[in-house]
Amino acid sequence: MLHFTASLPFDRRLAIVDTRGSLAHVEMLADRRIITRDEAEKIIDGLKEIRAEVEQEQFPYDLDFEDIHMNIEKRLIEKIGPLGGKLHTGRSRNDQVALDTHLYMKDEIKALELLLKQLQETLLHLAERFEGVLIPGYTHLQRAQPVLFSHHLLAYFWMLQRDRERLEGVLKRADLMPLGAGALAGTGFDIDRQQVAEKLGFSGLYENSIDAVSDRDYIIEFLSFASILMMHLSRLCEELINWSSAEFGFIELDDAYTTGSSMMPQKKNPDLAELARGKTGRVYGSLFAILTVMKGLPLAYNKDMQEDKEGFFDTVDTLKGLLPLLAEMLDTVTLNHDCLKEAVDDDYLCATDLADYLVKNGLSFRDAHHVVGNLIAYCRKEEKRLRELDPDTRGRFHPALAGEISFLLDPAQVVEARRSRGGTAPSAVREQMKLAWKEMG
Ligand code: ARG
Repeated sequence: MLHFTASLPFDRRLAIVDTRGSLAHVEMLADRRIITRDEAEKIIDGLKEIRAEVEQEQFPYDLDFEDIHMNIEKRLIEKIGPLGGKLHTGRSRNDQVALDTHLYMKDEIKALELLLKQLQETLLHLAERFEGVLIPGYTHLQRAQPVLFSHHLLAYFWMLQRDRERLEGVLKRADLMPLGAGALAGTGFDIDRQQVAEKLGFSGLYENSIDAVSDRDYIIEFLSFASILMMHLSRLCEELINWSSAEFGFIELDDAYTTGSSMMPQKKNPDLAELARGKTGRVYGSLFAILTVMKGLPLAYNKDMQEDKEGFFDTVDTLKGLLPLLAEMLDTVTLNHDCLKEAVDDDYLCATDLADYLVKNGLSFRDAHHVVGNLIAYCRKEEKRLRELDPDTRGRFHPALAGEISFLLDPAQVVEARRSRGGTAPSAVREQMKLAWKEMG
């Protein structure tokens, strides 16, 4: 029973924040004269010794004591005697564990924000490095219109920007201090929750003790943030996988982020990108697990809620492992200019521009779409590029097409023309880049 219900194997990573919370609690107890100053000093010394043991990996974890909170209390009593039992005055493990996960999350959010920002920065540098390079833009994975490669990369920048904003929102709601809720109803001791909150760097307090010990929204929100982020990273990685395949041949990934096959000597597998895509599944799994655990739980604390930790910790580890590696991999991507040029040279990508040109010559867009559709169908049948048709042939589809239209069939000029705000013209992308850098502060 004990081994099945114990959380120690995974909540031991809360050891440091647990001592931090206890130190603030015990100082408050002394300030409010709930324990004496002398008692507090002894407890504080004991807690500091324990913190050092944890830091030096010398803490004697004992699975017979269910969780990290009981382990630390037991160790304190070993060190300073029965007085150690006074630490838990006015406190329950229910508000203590809530405090610890809040503290832990706040630290990790700060670390993750930085990693996210670094990945955004990598994307910006990449967009600058590849300035002027064209790729086919796709819809339905069919070549659609030529775009600047930088423009395509910057789309991911803005996704990550929203992720960073979402993370700030998570932080805001994780920034409430639950301690003082006791088991669920508050405490009869004359505690000062505000003081504890300030000492621990919280900007607010939970205003309802039952809510304080029952709330796991912040974990659900964190995992929602993480799930959306992983979805974005998975899409980016899917593109890297596609682009580095022989079928596309647009980019090459550095050997450091690929592996060979044990059987096929020619293989260069994009393992990191694939695993990033795959890890998305376990992050979604953690989100669904905690949503399901919390659903239908009566107030207040229930042991079910101990299930909040593993998925959360695992997600933190996944993101902290993945984000820096992705940044490194992106930073070392090289382009295969010949393949890119050949793909972009497909002048069917300019069909929209031909249609727009006919609109400027008085046709409705529907009619223009029809005319160009016929023209492309003809080219496909004849196995010809648009630019290989002579003016008379083109003119048979519409007289306006018999004129000089080579500027419409040049991908660079077509891209150049898309100067609408947020569009792919080099000037518009430069503007976008300026705004993006501004978001980086
Ligand atoms: N190990 C527990 C958890 O992680 C700590 C709180 C336990 N409280 C209790 N009354 N059993 O949720």
